[in-house]
Amino acid sequence: MTIPSSAQATLRRLMELVHAKDGRLTRELHREPGGFGLGQVPASRVPDATTGLVCGFCSTGCNLTVHLRDGEAVNLSPTADYPVNRGMACPKGWEALAVLGAPDRAVAPLLRDVDGRRREVGWDEAMRTMAARFHEIQAEHGPESVAFLSTGQIATEEMALLGAVAKFGMGMIHGDGNTRQCMASAVTAYKQSFGFDAPPYTYADLEESDCIVLIGANPCIAHPVLWQRATRNPHSPEIIVIDPRRTETAMAATLHLPARPKSDLTLLYGIAQLLIEAGAVDRRFVEAHTTGFDEFKAFVRAFDVERVARETGLPADDVRAAADRIARSKRVSLWWTMGVNQSHQGVKTAQAAINIALMTGSIGRPGTGANSITGQCNAMGSRLFSNTTGLLGGRDFADPDHRSEVASILGLPVERIPSRPSWSYDQIIRGVRDGAIRGLWVVATNPAHSWIDQEDLRHTLGKLDFLVVQDMYHSTETAELADLLLPAAAWGEKEGTFINSERRVGLLKKVRRAPGMALADFSIFRLAAEYYGCGDLFAEWTSPEAAFQILKRLSAGRPCDISGIADFRAIDEAGGVQWPYPADAPNTAPERRLFEDGRFCHADGRARFVFTEPRPLPEPTDEEFPYQLLTGRGSAAQWHTQTRTSKSDVLRKLYPRDPYVEIHPDDAKALGAASGDWTVVESRRGSATVRAFVTPTIARGDLFMPMHDGSTNLLTLATFDPESRQPAYKACAVRARLARGDEVRLNINESMSH
Ligand code: SF4
Ligand code: MOS
Repeated sequence: MTIPSSAQATLRRLMELVHAKDGRLTRELHREPGGFGLGQVPASRVPDATTGLVCGFCSTGCNLTVHLRDGEAVNLSPTADYPVNRGMACPKGWEALAVLGAPDRAVAPLLRDVDGRRREVGWDEAMRTMAARFHEIQAEHGPESVAFLSTGQIATEEMALLGAVAKFGMGMIHGDGNTRQCMASAVTAYKQSFGFDAPPYTYADLEESDCIVLIGANPCIAHPVLWQRATRNPHSPEIIVIDPRRTETAMAATLHLPARPKSDLTLLYGIAQLLIEAGAVDRRFVEAHTTGFDEFKAFVRAFDVERVARETGLPADDVRAAADRIARSKRVSLWWTMGVNQSHQGVKTAQAAINIALMTGSIGRPGTGANSITGQCNAMGSRLFSNTTGLLGGRDFADPDHRSEVASILGLPVERIPSRPSWSYDQIIRGVRDGAIRGLWVVATNPAHSWIDQEDLRHTLGKLDFLVVQDMYHSTETAELADLLLPAAAWGEKEGTFINSERRVGLLKKVRRAPGMALADFSIFRLAAEYYGCGDLFAEWTSPEAAFQILKRLSAGRPCDISGIADFRAIDEAGGVQWPYPADAPNTAPERRLFEDGRFCHADGRARFVFTEPRPLPEPTDEEFPYQLLTGRGSAAQWHTQTRTSKSDVLRKLYPRDPYVEIHPDDAKALGAASGDWTVVESRRGSATVRAFVTPTIARGDLFMPMHDGSTNLLTLATFDPESRQPAYKACAVRARLARGDEVRLNINESMSH
């Protein structure tokens, strides 16, 4: 195939910027902000001594002030006057710069030879090879035989460009994100209930509630700064925690309901029934702003407190106490995270929380809401603009009006826009297994550690004709499988925006030079388009900030309207801006919530009560596999598959050296295990050898393993919520025994390559 000459010209221009290493790191640092047209961050945005940028780990969206010497970041501290974190950060944020200098940063493209070895190549060869291989595969097996897996970790402008290039330029149909693994259930729940994927809250609601209900959420560990905000609540709130484990958050609760794994749906229906019995329904709100309450009321009648106590394993009095406290409170907020979302009935469980907010009129007022706390720094950007599950701007691929809107905003022929929605992550993996997907482009995510049922996944990835992995490290489990590795600039080495859990658009800045030949993901996507031969379709996407202007147009008139935000500088000056922020009527209050007027996003303006009968666990325990395995975050110092957090000496000291399993003392006794003993945990799919950690915070019959060790997902069961296609990481049947001498894993940390 012939490469357009413009592609090489673009690459030359880019390489001039990347290689501009003359002398000190001063203003030169700010060339290659992640695009082509500008070539350089405008002088007005080049920072002097300090500058604030939004954190690149979790969705809390804290702002970190980076201290610069000669234009280069040397240190950081949490930003004192940012409305999100107000001077706080968790250990990951404090160490955000430390992980960038790791020796396993990818510094050049790596291409696998016929003999299987990886060798460094230049960008020209890398991009030629990628374009040629994808063209070949598509020519033989059809355009949709190449797919992508994206992430909640790159900037919104980058996600949008990837989604546009892959689908409108390269003709792919299927692309999904790792966001599927953590909040797809919340997305589907909101869409059905509210008519749009619209988390309604602002973080100040944590400080204004008099009753905070946390479901399958452990913010003390997983969202520490949010938890700090809750502890600043001056109203001595009731804190009700629904979680099978007595987590750090549960220990601080005024009422902990350790419901059996995945019985939360039954429990929430039971609480709704008790609220109805207590006359705690806000009739006026229900009648004015919702539909389906009468059917819901009839449905939950079957969830009497005795049944609920039986099925959840909770004392009936505790269930009553929860309902009482909700009924007595004036400002009730319900919050959930992965404990709800990662379930075989995650959508309906999220909606059960939404239903309680709706029936008590706990929405659109300070201190209220049915509030999904999301996971990754830019999961919320991906929800709106990644072009994966939904079409740009929270639209639908299947809707012809939506397709023509997007085509006209982007100046593309409408036929370029697929009329079919993408396969979900698990369907893409199945497509690889079946041979329908032959080429895969994985960006900033690590499925060879994080996807459910690893053994099967790794076998499946091996079937691909061509695997491209784009990452900041060459050493992730997935990067090591790649036929072509593309080295990417990291957080702090490029520009763009992230959207946090409370819908706040925050700014990412370039405060460091990317190592070697690594390029901003934005630049890589542009190069990919040029080499593939569709670069002319994206001529307007010259830089992240130019792309932001396109996103504004895509959002105008939508519930997620950001058309009133002038530019990157305006985001910076405002301390982030929550959507919606329309051009005609911006609400400039620093903390804003949705649905204050009771109008939801369905055509009739009403929210829906959505509900269904709970289903049994997909893999119940039995004699052979007598324990339920729960998974989740290990500590505040760890992030997901640890590709970054394991690189920090400080963070490594803040979590146990070896992977572990939490076991109740009675179960430990039966196994003959003491804390520290090597223990084998086995499921029908695989086994993991980890240390026992004997603790009464886990219930009898349950085991808990953090998700951060690669072996945890050897055990998990590939089962999915049928509506959201989110994997149910949180419960599968396992057995446990003491390890034999030859099974012990010695010096796990020392043996890691990094
Ligand atoms: Fe970063 Fe989240 Fe920690 Fe804040 S709480 S510093 S956003 S990882
Ligand atoms: Mo997530 S971990 O909110 O994609």
